[in-house]
Amino acid sequence: MSEGLKIVTIGGGSSYTPELVEGFIKRYEELPVKELWLVDIEEGKGKLEIVGNLAKRMIEKAGLSIEIHLTLDRKAALKDADFVTTQFRVGLLEARSKDERIPLSHGVLGQETNGPGGLLKGLRTIPVILDIVKDIQEQCPDAWLINFTNPAGMVTEAVLRYTTHKKVVGLCNVPIGIEMGVAKLLGVDPSRIRIDFAGLNHMVYGLDVYLDGTSVKKHVIELLTSPENNSFVKNVEGQGWEPEFIRSLNVLTCPYHLYYYKKDEMLQKELKNFKEGTTRAEVVKKLEEELFELYKDPNLTTKPLQLEERGGAYYSDAAVRLIASIYNDKRDIQPVNTINNGAIASIPNDSAVEVSCIITKEGPKPIINGDLPVAVRGLVQQIKSFERIGAEAAVTGNYDTALLAMTINPLVPSDKVAKVILDEMLEAHKEHLPQFEQTVQA
Ligand code: G6P
Repeated sequence: MSEGLKIVTIGGGSSYTPELVEGFIKRYEELPVKELWLVDIEEGKGKLEIVGNLAKRMIEKAGLSIEIHLTLDRKAALKDADFVTTQFRVGLLEARSKDERIPLSHGVLGQETNGPGGLLKGLRTIPVILDIVKDIQEQCPDAWLINFTNPAGMVTEAVLRYTTHKKVVGLCNVPIGIEMGVAKLLGVDPSRIRIDFAGLNHMVYGLDVYLDGTSVKKHVIELLTSPENNSFVKNVEGQGWEPEFIRSLNVLTCPYHLYYYKKDEMLQKELKNFKEGTTRAEVVKKLEEELFELYKDPNLTTKPLQLEERGGAYYSDAAVRLIASIYNDKRDIQPVNTINNGAIASIPNDSAVEVSCIITKEGPKPIINGDLPVAVRGLVQQIKSFERIGAEAAVTGNYDTALLAMTINPLVPSDKVAKVILDEMLEAHKEHLPQFEQTVQA
């Protein structure tokens, strides 16, 4: 790697970009970024300019010499990059709204990473990420790809299994959010907390939690019985676990487990939002409009606090701390999505898992080596099967495979309902699903 890094962010016009820029500013000493290229597509040009100009003002205010480049030319931007981050949404928020609303109109939970919404987001995203990987292999084959694009588990799985680019890490803010949340519950500095994470993206468990090296799992589990305490992200509202359930489960849950262990309550909530026009996509659309209005202000030189209302809070910390640890061969422990290779015995070796890892310059090395408790193993395997089959459908454009993935998702009640929802969603998203062209026309 050269002195002074080149970072390329695909989906650079995202409202999250100021988070990332703040992260690079905070860690400049250990991570000497020379160039940050923000790349977007034609439809994102307006947003790219607004957020890109804010990024430039933030860097200027910090007095750093990071060059910010804004471009629509992905290939040119990728030339000789050291790290590539991806944070795009194919079909923009409009597509997210369909992912949420179509399943809900059939009484099934709609969410952008869970259930039918997660599958359709995967079908739209995976071909694009595979194209990006092709460009990376041509323009910067030694670069690390750090993917935040959802569904991050299925997307990382697809890169691992359908490309030869092995320098890929999937990243999520949920584990760091849990660590911060637990630190807050205990009233201690987050640096004193360590959690052993294992599972999949948005399906990760804390097998143990330590304060200054001593397990405090029992105490933390008691705290999770209170409604305020078991979410940790802004976009999933917490509800207390039944004390007997969480005690016997005996591991820390992540916010997305609410969709599985409180299916009915979550569905009722989402159905209410559906009727009132307040599903997450609709809330985020409003929030984005407000954010971009703020970003336009030429006097704004820092990340506005309102950005913390988004579910992805702390994601810059997670991303920049990961890049800094790879670059500096820090060998600290961070939870990331990486190739399983036996870390979790009941998951295929070539699949992506989200586990605590030692972060080295050769990439993440899982510290978990064994298996998940039997009570959670089945659900994790089921979701992994969904992700594997979903990724295969995205690559092949095979209708039967897509229906299989939809039907085996635990949030979908039957094959018949799966088919109705799939057909409607394939039609609604057809502009972004070229691999299903034959199927949708037929
Ligand atoms: C979470 C998830 C991210 C997701 C984000 C959505 O924290 O971990 O994967 O992208 O929330 O936030 P939003 O504000 O867009 O609903």
